[in-house]
Amino acid sequence: MKVLIVGSGGREHAIAWKVAQSPKVEKIYCAPGNAGIAEYAECVDIKAMEFEKLASFAKEHAVDLTVIGMDDPLVGGIVDVFESHGLRVFGPRKNAAILEGSKAFSKDLMKKYHIPTAAYENFDRAEDALAYLETAKMPIVLKADGLALGKGVLICNTLEEAKEGVKEIMTDKKFGQAGSRMVVEEFMTGREVSVLTFVDGKTIRTMTSAQDHKRAGDGDTGLNTGGMGTFSPSPFYTKEIDAYCKEHIYQPTVDAMRAEGREFKGIIFFGLMLTEDGPKVLEYNARFGDPETQVVLPRMKTDIIDAFEACIDGTLDQIDLEFENNAAVCVVLASDGYPVSYKKGYPIEGLETFKGKDGYYVFHAGTANGADGSIVTNGGRVLGVTAKGDDLKQARANAYKAVEWVRFENKYYRHDIGKAIDEA
Ligand code: AMP
Ligand code: GLY
Repeated sequence: MKVLIVGSGGREHAIAWKVAQSPKVEKIYCAPGNAGIAEYAECVDIKAMEFEKLASFAKEHAVDLTVIGMDDPLVGGIVDVFESHGLRVFGPRKNAAILEGSKAFSKDLMKKYHIPTAAYENFDRAEDALAYLETAKMPIVLKADGLALGKGVLICNTLEEAKEGVKEIMTDKKFGQAGSRMVVEEFMTGREVSVLTFVDGKTIRTMTSAQDHKRAGDGDTGLNTGGMGTFSPSPFYTKEIDAYCKEHIYQPTVDAMRAEGREFKGIIFFGLMLTEDGPKVLEYNARFGDPETQVVLPRMKTDIIDAFEACIDGTLDQIDLEFENNAAVCVVLASDGYPVSYKKGYPIEGLETFKGKDGYYVFHAGTANGADGSIVTNGGRVLGVTAKGDDLKQARANAYKAVEWVRFENKYYRHDIGKAIDEA
């Protein structure tokens, strides 16, 4: 079969790599793709938000299945457009992708269906939010309602900071239209876990757990980023916690969406906080995580095409997802200065070292083809270096060894990805 993947980051590289393992797949296209994805896929110069162009391409090239990696096109309704053309596509429709597209929607859903999450209030007007903050307990969390590249969340320690935050989000519109509404939420403490799941509208199947590192600097300091590294599985996500989440969070979310007439087919990514009062939902995403995917898919044994097809056909209850009994760590190599400002266009050396090395992967996030066949840096997050090991400690040692194989000017990475596992 022929598969089209929509997206261009490290997540889509990992998806393309996994799709390429399927014996059912004869050809992969990726739009727009990147220099690393080009190893498995023919990259097509169409942007992820050009729905009609993408659908025409899929028709003309007799694509059997399209997989949407990114949140923007899902929330914008790309799946509805593909379906209106009679094309087979993996991902939630617009009316279900709202689970990620509106934090106010997802908070109201959780409240209505008693799914554990932080206490909150939604606001459409800055004055009302400011009045509410006067009597609220600090620290407090402010969230722009819409998509904001993972950056629309402010944790405020004082009333002054919170007031300034309301101004940034709702008045100055620092995150654009995403800030027309805002959620004000109770601050929670605990360990964070990411759980990715396949959903077919009724049935939900969990993948192995992972943990992200969102801050730019060692020791969780500095600004929030798209993610500086991940490990999988999370040793803090025990069997008991998994059983609790299946009963109180995962299945109730799928059932709630169906009850609302918003049947969800695709990936639900549960961002969880393991609090003293039990696991609570921090956020939902309607797609694979980045860089969680870079540690989860290398450990997946099941043919991913079977999982995609079962979600579309509503037959996920017939699939057993299998994962290797090992561990993986991904260290993101970024351009120094990310996430604020950084230079790009530097040649990358050493990528060939990964060739033929079992259990080592280099997923491209921001790269481009330079002159004379070289590959150059082309973004804040440049590469995700993933390594597997028998356990988390070995995987971490392997990943940090492989980090040394790659060289480019202004290479920056965190040195403590997976350090938390020492406390497990
Ligand atoms: P989100 O995009 O909602 O996952 O938020 C980004 C990050 O902000 C999360 O990964 C948490 O580290 C933090 N965060 C979000 N909501 C809360 C909360 N209610 N309490 C504490 N931290 C939070
Ligand atoms: N790693 C967090 C996300 O994909 O949103």
